[in-house]
Amino acid sequence: MDPAYLAEWANLLIRWLHLITGIAWIGTSFYFIGLDNQLDPPRDGNPRVKGEQWSIHGGGFYHKQKYLNAPAELPEKLHWFKWEAYWTWLSGFSLFMLIYWGQASTYLVDPAVMALSPGVAVAISAAMLVAGWVVYDLACRSKWGEQENLLSAFGVGLLVVAAFVACHVFSGRGAFLQVGAMTGTIMVANVAMVIIPGQRKMVAAMQAGQEPDPKYGRWGKQRSVHNTYLTLPVLFLMISPHYPMTWGASWNWVVLLAITLAGALVRQFFVQRQFGRNPVALPAAAALVVVVLAVLLMPARGPAGGEAPAFAEVQAIAAARCATCHAANPTQDGFVEAPKGVRLDEPGQIRRWAQSIRQQVASEAMPPGNLTEITAEERAKLVAWVAAGAPRE
Ligand code: HEC
Repeated sequence: MDPAYLAEWANLLIRWLHLITGIAWIGTSFYFIGLDNQLDPPRDGNPRVKGEQWSIHGGGFYHKQKYLNAPAELPEKLHWFKWEAYWTWLSGFSLFMLIYWGQASTYLVDPAVMALSPGVAVAISAAMLVAGWVVYDLACRSKWGEQENLLSAFGVGLLVVAAFVACHVFSGRGAFLQVGAMTGTIMVANVAMVIIPGQRKMVAAMQAGQEPDPKYGRWGKQRSVHNTYLTLPVLFLMISPHYPMTWGASWNWVVLLAITLAGALVRQFFVQRQFGRNPVALPAAAALVVVVLAVLLMPARGPAGGEAPAFAEVQAIAAARCATCHAANPTQDGFVEAPKGVRLDEPGQIRRWAQSIRQQVASEAMPPGNLTEITAEERAKLVAWVAAGAPRE
């Protein structure tokens, strides 16, 4: 059986798993942040209880209490939350390897950005994944780690560097996924390397009849708060491949940072609401950022004075530059069918996809990594043809 065909099934099943586990993880994460931020003083006077919350869901009443440090006795049964995070990372990393490492010359490398061999690109990508976590973790554990403002400033600086480097090394699309994978890795490592081990130590102390060291609770809480601000940006980066206008720009690293900022502002708004505040300036600022980006990224309506080429010329360009992949039977290695069902080997099909062709060609998203070496002139011709109403003569 064709390995590229099998890879398509692997892609579908792993992506499905990634979505499901990601929803479960982020769902519990949002839930517990909200719970923590909306605790009322306890009514029953238990001095060990920090706060409590009553809620109603799914036809039942719930009464939750959070302890200041730990209850007097370890309960018989304790529910843990970790596999959601672990499986989100395992599935996400598998998908990243399958697509961005396995087909690095298509998805990760763009010779116009940097002419890397696939092997070198994968090595840089892996090194950045590890380095992102190591640097962030060292900063959190450093003596400045408990000064939230300083640490946040450092975190933003780290993100700026990661975005700048990734966008100057990898294809735009690859760079956005790379930064998304780095951020996602930090979030899961926060669970696997800090939160869960700290909780294990707390439980072990209680089993030994001691009061757990409150620092584990503090550390875990800090990482879980970081995770909450990273959620919206990461989710944007994960869906960004569908939106070449974002990563196709020549200053795409700034676009990445701006949308990340917008996502963090929106999350901050919802967190503040949990404290009973309503800082509408936050989502308003996020909306402003997005509107400014949308205006700045607006594609030019065809080259100035460019004349629409004859349809035969459009067909010839599509045949040479696109149809190696976008055909009923692609000749490009690793392709078994026309990607996304977009066939550009038939006149009717070329017209059908005209608007998408313009979008993909003008943003330089297609051909990926310019594998088929389309020229700027040919791009301009395709764009002019679509702008003229995609005439078929
Ligand atoms: C090396 C193979 C290859 C070549 C050459 C190529 N494409 Fe693609 N194309 C792809 C892949 C892969 C996708 C799916 C991308 C994804 O997964 O989002 C795609 C997707 C598309 C889409 C659909 C985008 C969407 O998600 O809606 C359009 C339109 C498109 N290509 C147009 C073109 C045009 C026009 C050319 C020639 C100028 C071209 N492609 C050349 C591989 C190729």
